[in-house]
Amino acid sequence: MTRFSISISVLSFLAMASVAHADPRKLAEEKQCLLCHTMENKVGRATAFKAIAQRYKGKADSEANLVQMVEKGGVGHWGYIPMPPAGWKRPDVSEAEARELVDWILALH
Ligand code: HEC
Repeated sequence: MTRFSISISVLSFLAMASVAHADPRKLAEEKQCLLCHTMENKVGRATAFKAIAQRYKGKADSEANLVQMVEKGGVGHWGYIPMPPAGWKRPDVSEAEARELVDWILALH
């Protein structure tokens, strides 16, 4: 009985955790990432998320560096147009949200 109820609560915890991360693409829309970025082919001022994944996937430190970039903005990685910091010209992004977005981008292929 105890073992059974423990596994039920583990399962429902996992279900809740996956609901919280259900749709990073929606989060990217809410945070206006897709106003500048595209998914596949660069059209606007910022590089496509797939190109970002191809450059950084599997490289040490890339997750941490990109999370910083999503929170603080930056320039010079792709060209001379800067990405503004979160909360300035684009919505605020928490560290957890930045991490979720970066993990999603790095998993694109
Ligand atoms: C106002 C336009 C704009 C918005 C909005 C924007 N970006 Fe960017 N982003 C850029 C530009 C321009 C660059 C390239 C900067 C550079 O060359 O270093 C960039 C670069 C990046 C990079 C690559 C960083 C690197 O070190 O190579 C990531 C990852 C990224 N953006 C994610 C996001 C996410 C996630 C959001 C939404 C929370 C977002 N961006 C919103 C313009 C934008």
